[in-house]
Amino acid sequence: MIPENSQLLFSREQIELRTREIASRISADYQGRQLVIIGVLKGCFVFLADIIRNLDLDITIDFVQIASYGAGRESSGDCVVLKDLGIDIRGRDVLIVEDIVDTGETLAHLIGDLQQRSPASFRVCTLLNKQYRRRVEVTVDYIGFEVDDVFVVGYGLDFDERYRALPDIYALPPEVQA
Ligand code: PRP
Repeated sequence: MIPENSQLLFSREQIELRTREIASRISADYQGRQLVIIGVLKGCFVFLADIIRNLDLDITIDFVQIASYGAGRESSGDCVVLKDLGIDIRGRDVLIVEDIVDTGETLAHLIGDLQQRSPASFRVCTLLNKQYRRRVEVTVDYIGFEVDDVFVVGYGLDFDERYRALPDIYALPPEVQA
């Protein structure tokens, strides 16, 4: 069900095309290497499912879940790991997959954590990026789309746990975001 007065931001066709482009770049960049894909729950699950099915690589998949507590929708940087990795990434090439990078707090926390486990390399892929919101500098290697000052839902992204199953991405009207 589409939220009332929302605006279509990225259609399923746009998302599919961009996902294929990104997957091609990742496949080229990691050609001949094994890759560990780490999805950041929950929002990543739809994007991750589409990305991995377009990769021409030998991959392993695992997930982490991190809660970032703060006032309202603002991350505080106070991150708590709700689900940790179940595999050893020492000496492995790692790609983190996110649905959206906003303040960068969640990613910065995760990167700090993963670096202590001595991977051979790590990169970050996100479907959506809110560069203007960044509070912590993080390097994002693969970006689907830049997003302006709107609250986005659909294709894995939620508003109070709703709308994750929408095939397209919508911007909620300002009155809903308040
Ligand atoms: C979202 C998103 C990122 C994080 C980005 O997760 O999936 O993990 O916020 O925000 P930041 O850059 O400001 O830290 P959220 O906490 O909404 O949980 P969810 O994925 O379960 O919806």
